[in-house]
Amino acid sequence: MAVDGPAGSGKSTVSRLLASALAAAYLDTGAMYRAVTLAVLRAGVDLADPEGVTKVAHEASLTCGTDPLAPSIQLDGDDVAQAIRTAEVTSAVSAVSAVPAVRQLLVARQRQIIEEARAIVVEGRDIGAVVAPEAQLKVFLTASAEERARRRSGENSVAADLTAADLARRDRLDSTRAVDPLRRTDDAVELDTTAMDIDTVVATLRELVTTRL
Ligand code: C5P
Repeated sequence: MAVDGPAGSGKSTVSRLLASALAAAYLDTGAMYRAVTLAVLRAGVDLADPEGVTKVAHEASLTCGTDPLAPSIQLDGDDVAQAIRTAEVTSAVSAVSAVPAVRQLLVARQRQIIEEARAIVVEGRDIGAVVAPEAQLKVFLTASAEERARRRSGENSVAADLTAADLARRDRLDSTRAVDPLRRTDDAVELDTTAMDIDTVVATLRELVTTRL
């Protein structure tokens, strides 16, 4: 199952709960782009140097746990689950994820993880369109820009206007990049979660799984 959508649309929480309810695995592809970004920042490589960024991506060893109750990500053997959520990584990740060779590398890893799983819920920006066009069910989650900023600032205790500016910037970069931009495919079910709480979104998607699969 592919779950795509912009930042703050509720993808992560919903995908984890759904995977857990369905006894399926869970993959957060955004965490993979964030881990490569962390490696780039740690290596002191210029974000505007695609060859340097690509080299770091090839040398980085990523391990992604797919248990929805305990998702984990390791970079070169270190648990980086917290380190990939800093403001520094968040503001650099769109530049790194726009490098075609980085996407090629991570999409191949993601497909490998999907192939190894019996059933899996995968969340990201290009899952339905690029990573798993053959997914049995594709969902595109949206929410108003104000609601998404409110959710994110609640998570990070950052002022909502700062979060809103960061989200708007990331939305613009992620939707307008040349390679695999965020987009809804024609066969995806779009769900606007602005006025829905998490439980309602999960219940709606479970219903969809029951009727569609
Ligand atoms: O989902 P999250 O907000 O953690 O994703 C971080 C960033 O990773 C996004 O802003 C986007 O630039 C990139 N990303 C991507 N393709 C994906 C998942 C995430 O380009 N499938």
